[in-house]
Amino acid sequence: MNACVIGLQWGDEGKGKVVDILAERSDIVVRYNGGANAGHTVIVGDNRFALHLLPSGSVRPDTICVIANAVAVDPEVLTGGIEMLESKGISLDGRLLVSQNAHVVLDYHKKEDHLREESLGTNKLGTTVRGIGPCYADKVGRSYAVRMADFRDLDALRAKLEKIVEYKNRIFAALYNSEPINADDIFDKCTVYAERLSPFIADTTEFLHRSVAQGKSILFEGAQGTLLDIDHGTFPYVTSSNSSSLGMPAGCGVPAKMVHTFIGVVKAYTTRVGSGPFPTEQDNETGRYIRDKGNEYGTTTGRPRRCGWFDAVAVSYAATIGAIDSIALMHLDTLAGLETLHVCRAYKIDQKETTFFPSDATKLRSAECVYQAVAGWDQDITDIKDFDDLPEAARDYVRLIEELTRRPVTMVGVGPKRDQIIFRQ
Ligand code: GDP
Ligand code: IMO
Ligand code: MG
Repeated sequence: MNACVIGLQWGDEGKGKVVDILAERSDIVVRYNGGANAGHTVIVGDNRFALHLLPSGSVRPDTICVIANAVAVDPEVLTGGIEMLESKGISLDGRLLVSQNAHVVLDYHKKEDHLREESLGTNKLGTTVRGIGPCYADKVGRSYAVRMADFRDLDALRAKLEKIVEYKNRIFAALYNSEPINADDIFDKCTVYAERLSPFIADTTEFLHRSVAQGKSILFEGAQGTLLDIDHGTFPYVTSSNSSSLGMPAGCGVPAKMVHTFIGVVKAYTTRVGSGPFPTEQDNETGRYIRDKGNEYGTTTGRPRRCGWFDAVAVSYAATIGAIDSIALMHLDTLAGLETLHVCRAYKIDQKETTFFPSDATKLRSAECVYQAVAGWDQDITDIKDFDDLPEAARDYVRLIEELTRRPVTMVGVGPKRDQIIFRQ
């Protein structure tokens, strides 16, 4: 059985936790998009892991981990992640494969990300400054790209870096009046990364197809969320990869029809980090309540997340383009204590009501939300294991989300820990 876990909002839905739970029954977990802009939290006992590049299955000592072609690999973050797990007694030796075709994020990408954001002032995108956009731009541009396979031939890499750094320095000086970077420094770091990471570099497409043929069970782990997809999200306030499930086949070379089930992860409300339209945002007491109670601060950057009501228009769109079979609804516990909850069931745009999400950022900014108000609940639900034991208002809330998204909610998160999950048929 192969499954794909995808965020259906603007990221941070709780994918790390869902993947960690499902990884128990998977042989292989695959990251196929994005880079160290992702921050996936997995909590095992007293250990809290923040994973940026390693798949969330990596905390389980027997799970094979794959970082596939379309991931933007920051070798510094990857080696840091491997060492962090080693420090907790979890080794990745012999069970991590990093695609030879994956593109490499280097210091000049992070510098470019930072300089560009700074130069945009109030128009900045609010990126994670992890060099993601500049790395993918080099990938698409082709002439100045570095891939993992380049770590296998250091002489050729040195020559390549000299050419790239000369080009980047011309841009840094001309556009940003910024200090040049030094090719030798970058090369020296690359020799260290090459030594550490070479054993993991592989043809992951060949490996995944061999594994499919052997009947292995594969779990595909999306990063970011569908509304941040470069082609289908709220452009330009998106990331630079296909972060919907549509990015999965292209990202790892395994066709979507080999995946038996697509699981969409959502929060029981909505959050967003960075700039961009957010129709159900509650920049008020309610938003602050959710942020404090849900601990809504970025896993990668620590930024406070913007919070708002559940947006069924946005989630339905994400579920539709993502061929989502079922929903994992996280953070239901966070809503406890709010007297009345609001769910956005339609938008009013140009006086007309619509339930189809316009990904166009300008149109989305003009959308007025049509809310359905429902009763909240007071009880703490963090210890509940059975759906029928939830307060009636919480059960009704889950059923309303099922009705509006036309998808069954099969998992309900009631806290951050591994066992704080309710399974439903
Ligand atoms: P991801 O990027 O989708 O993996 O999500 P993040 O890890 O960035 O953010 C999700 C946050 O919510 C993390 O701090 C999780 O530990 C936490 N979390 C996940 N599920 C639940 C839940 O059901 N309830 C609560 N209270 N916290 C949760
Ligand atoms: P996970 O996998 C939430 C957002 C940034 C910014 C925009 C572009 O943890 O859900 P980028 O650095 O990618 O160029 O930033 O995308 N963003 C995320 N928001 N969760 C993420 O990942 C994100 N990755 C990028 O905040 O708005
Ligand atoms: Mg996250």
